Amino acid sequence: MVMEVLAGLNIRPGRLYVDGTVGEGGHAAAILDRLLQAGELIGLDKNPDVLQRAASRLAPYTSRFRLFHRSFSQLGEVLEAIQVQEAAGILLDLGLSLYLLEHSGRGFSFRRDEPLDMRFDPLEPVPTAADLLNTSSPSELETIFRAYGEEPQARLLARRVVEARRRRPFRTTRDLVEVVTTVIRPKGPRSRIHPATRVFQALRIAVNRELEELETFLSRAPDWLAPQGRLVVLSYHSLEDRLVKQRFLEWERGGVAKRLTKKPSRPGPEEVRRNPRARTARLRIAEKI
Ligand SMILES: C[S@@+](CC[C@H](N)C(=O)[O-])C[C@H]1O[C@@H](n2cnc3c(N)ncnc32)[C@H](O)[C@@H]1O
Repeated sequence: MVMEVLAGLNIRPGRLYVDGTVGEGGHAAAILDRLLQAGELIGLDKNPDVLQRAASRLAPYTSRFRLFHRSFSQLGEVLEAIQVQEAAGILLDLGLSLYLLEHSGRGFSFRRDEPLDMRFDPLEPVPTAADLLNTSSPSELETIFRAYGEEPQARLLARRVVEARRRRPFRTTRDLVEVVTTVIRPKGPRSRIHPATRVFQALRIAVNRELEELETFLSRAPDWLAPQGRLVVLSYHSLEDRLVKQRFLEWERGGVAKRLTKKPSRPGPEEVRRNPRARTARLRIAEKI
């Protein structure tokens, strides 16, 4: 949905834009292209490896971007440190990048046998996915699987996790896939969605406290936007989208910002065919008053 994102940000040459989830710099490069030699991009990401990749990709744009190894919830500190008051547009493209899924070796994919880590920021001293599986109570596990994975078999799965860890602690993705496939069956013989998809997503959201990060960001975001500045959020999970939807509505009622998308934009069938992971994407745009 790159074109919708760029249109949503309403990029004007000479202004400053923030990509709060810069990843490998795909959206960032497209933004810099539109800025036409004038203007600046500030990119943030919690993962140092993708930041390095973004730095290489964006190198041709020389001095027009700055990258920070920080969470988007800490954007205020970054802006203060570089003495910038406000941005003309902020983008959040939430969740996981293809690189982290396929190449990070941190257990985001059930298709590889890797340590169950799942922290976006490997330097952050928070429990890994293996820690959560090995130490959470059955009801905590059930809540994670139900709330963040919308997994109907959450209770049974939590029980099976606790039984399995008594025999041997969880260490790798394969340990988890083995347990998941005893509880959750594929939706049908032709289903393209692996039974572990929702469980892995749930653990990732819990490990990285993704909803809390988004809440913290949304509670401050209007302070970081210039008048008529745009906030564009691409979310991939109904809980994230609900937080964005509610906040945008509050801002509109409070005269802080107006919603430019009453209903979220969704990717078309062609984009979903090319990139099945985009199937759950929802794009919302708000403009500060
Ligand atoms: C879907 S990818 C972004 C891809 C990017 N838009 C591009 O075009 O390459 C999401 C990125 O957000 C990062 N991320 C997740 N939570 C974050 C947070 N709270 N603060 C900063 N980055 C975060 C992840 O590390 C990942 O690189």
